Amino acid sequence: MTIRMTRREFASAASGAAGAALVAPPAFAQSTALITRAIPTSGERLPVVGLGTAQVFDDADAATRQKATAVLQALIANGGRLIDTASVYGDAEVVLGEAIAPAHLREKIFIATKLESSDAAELKRSLARLKTEKLDLLQFHNVRDPRQSLAQFKEWKAQGVTRYIGITSTRHADFAAVEAVLAREKPDFVQIDYSLDDREAEKRILPLAAEVKAGVLTALPFGRARLFRAVHGKDIPDWARGFAGSWAQFFLKYLLADPRVTAVIPGTADAAHMTDNLGAMRGLLPNPDQRAQMVAFIEAL
Ligand SMILES: NC(=O)c1ccc[n+]([C@@H]2O[C@H](COP(=O)([O-])OP(=O)(O)OC[C@H]3O[C@@H](n4cnc5c(N)ncnc54)[C@H](OP(=O)(O)O)[C@@H]3O)[C@@H](O)[C@H]2O)c1
Repeated sequence: MTIRMTRREFASAASGAAGAALVAPPAFAQSTALITRAIPTSGERLPVVGLGTAQVFDDADAATRQKATAVLQALIANGGRLIDTASVYGDAEVVLGEAIAPAHLREKIFIATKLESSDAAELKRSLARLKTEKLDLLQFHNVRDPRQSLAQFKEWKAQGVTRYIGITSTRHADFAAVEAVLAREKPDFVQIDYSLDDREAEKRILPLAAEVKAGVLTALPFGRARLFRAVHGKDIPDWARGFAGSWAQFFLKYLLADPRVTAVIPGTADAAHMTDNLGAMRGLLPNPDQRAQMVAFIEAL
């Protein structure tokens, strides 16, 4: 059943959003169609490349604010919407709130944040720091307990404080807890570590997410820059040039070629890197044979 859905969605992605790119040059000019994915529980479409903010905006100093403004401008200018942050990412929520609200960008951004608890005080703090009354996605950060309840998150969703709820984890030891909560609570999203060299989520989380109709956000899509270190000094293989204009696009498109992935959220404080990453929203995606070739390539390094 999973395979049938995968093929159908893959074909739809290829003929729809990415279809125009069949005749596009490998440089992936701005004019090629933007790849978007439907959030399973609503059908709302989300541009498939977002921004992760762990560590990059920890300090609310002038230099960080300047970088955040430039990264945000790059995100919006290239058709992106999604920003993932957390109450515990240093001052990232503050930096984002100050970059988004005064520039009247709130409506253009899909804000996802994470709480450590179901405590209303923590939620209130995040809303104040982000300078918004309403979130797009509220995630329970780092699920560890299989009995974790999302009742309070569902209540906040019913009250209109957030449009979607989710859970996150990047610890394989906690995947059993993620599976239990995903199956029982059926949140709108699950955020999980998934990269070309860390594919555990393909076996466990992605099939279940498809079954319970949860959107998937991929944390650590570069394995915290591990993948860039692995290919340092190497050129992109010729067979990949038809779909990837850079290593970042090579790594992100591996993930995006799986239709169960709703969006990738690479972290960066560099506007040029943001633009490079957003290039993965355009042009062709690798087909299943090319994906297998990508895995073999990275495993041979
Ligand atoms: N448990 C959880 O819920 C959890 C855990 C971890 C992460 N996350 C989320 O996932 C997001 C992504 O993870 P991450 O930021 O830790 O790691 P990542 O996205 O895998 O890698 C980020 C690293 O890649 C570099 N990079 C980004 N774009 C690049 C490009 N185009 N070319 C070259 N280098 C590039 C960044 O450096 P530069 O700054 O120089 O670009 C940074 O060193 C986080 O920001 C966070 O939102 C969630």
